[in-house]
Amino acid sequence: MTRVVMLEALAFGLDRISAAGRRMGVELYLFTFDRPYYQRQLASDDYIRVVDVDTFDRDAVRAALDKAGPVAGLVSNTDTWARTAELLAQERGFANVLTDTERLRDKNWVRNRVVEAGLSRGRAVRGSDWEPERHGEQADAFVVKDAAGTGSRHVLFADTAAAVGAAIRALAAQGVEPGRITVEPYFHGPLYSAETYTTRAGTVLFGVNSRTVSELPQFRELDLSYPVGRGSVWEQSVRRWAADVLARIGRGIGPSHIEFVDTAHGFELVEVNARLGGGRIGEGILRATGFDPFQLLLHQALQADLGDGALRAAQVGATAGGFAQVLKYAARTGPLGSIDGTGQLARFPGEVEWHPVKDPQSVIDGVEDQRGCYGFLTALGPSPEAALQRAHAAARQIRVERPDRDGHRCG
Ligand SMILES: Nc1ncnc2c1ncn2[C@@H]1O[C@H](COP(=O)(O)OP(=O)(O)O)[C@@H](O)[C@H]1O
Ligand SMILES: [Mg+2]
Repeated sequence: MTRVVMLEALAFGLDRISAAGRRMGVELYLFTFDRPYYQRQLASDDYIRVVDVDTFDRDAVRAALDKAGPVAGLVSNTDTWARTAELLAQERGFANVLTDTERLRDKNWVRNRVVEAGLSRGRAVRGSDWEPERHGEQADAFVVKDAAGTGSRHVLFADTAAAVGAAIRALAAQGVEPGRITVEPYFHGPLYSAETYTTRAGTVLFGVNSRTVSELPQFRELDLSYPVGRGSVWEQSVRRWAADVLARIGRGIGPSHIEFVDTAHGFELVEVNARLGGGRIGEGILRATGFDPFQLLLHQALQADLGDGALRAAQVGATAGGFAQVLKYAARTGPLGSIDGTGQLARFPGEVEWHPVKDPQSVIDGVEDQRGCYGFLTALGPSPEAALQRAHAAARQIRVERPDRDGHRCG
């Protein structure tokens, strides 16, 4: 049987990759340093073989690969392990694993490549090079963020050029050195993400996700809906722009999740993630676009010369007109407490599902960013708008109850 190794995985989607492996007759191994992280996903799975290995130790991963016997391909669909996967692919000839990972994970490099190609406007400056007199003119507000960050952590809003220096120092105090900080104009407009897949034949756009973001100065993701603007001229312009961005930075074969702001002057890049989108975005693509992106990951690992035939093979037919996600956040740090309301969700339309990401005993150590997210809810609908309205209606039901210091319930 053909064997494929997954070097860690996203927090969701193993159910679908497992089903795809079964259908395709592909044996799946998951290498992980943190088996409990996947516990909820794997609870009802008897197909994926989990191998405990310190995935931060490259020699340990090499040894685990040697032990696994003949391995035909490697699936790497996370940011954190992209560099390890790149090295292993070089050594062992695995097909279509992301290359040039260090530059592609550098938001400063990516942004400036895209600006040089005329595909975005505002240049990014490294925190270590920032000079207010020289760089402060190009915008009236800025975002100061970790150039290799993830999970909306270490993203600061600076409402004047004068505030940028303090933001750089604040991030440095949190351990992000100035050379790793990128300063870019704050872009005014709605946030979206383009979900794409690149084969040898070019880039297809599965669709565009909308995003509602929390009140400034925070950047927490509150909800998304998919696929917005389907079939529109606007969507076509997103497709062309996204394809040009990916070609310019040399993304190569595979899925991408490209965040951008639709400004009054055109699209402005926020970041390119050279992987499937997180949360249940892959599920949304499957249900509302009718392509199985998880199956594509397996084709990608097994077919060196991946053309658009793989896209045809992964076409499964859409089963919904729209998909939406609403994220729920704790209001306070400390122990989360019990989550109420999940029992009511079956009363709502849209095949509503609750996806916990924290347990009641979990300790919330920050509420300004995604760390405060304790779970999210998904819904389907005849359109992205209807799916989003359904998801919000059901999300009102979910609340955290935690005992206060005196033992009373304080909600
Ligand atoms: N230049 C910018 N202009 C406006 N909003 C931004 C900008 N850069 C980042 N953001 C906001 O901050 C969020 C997190 O930034 P991002 O680079 O996507 O980091 P992460 O990798 O943590 O998702 C984005 O989703 C967006 O809402
Ligand atoms: Mg992001």
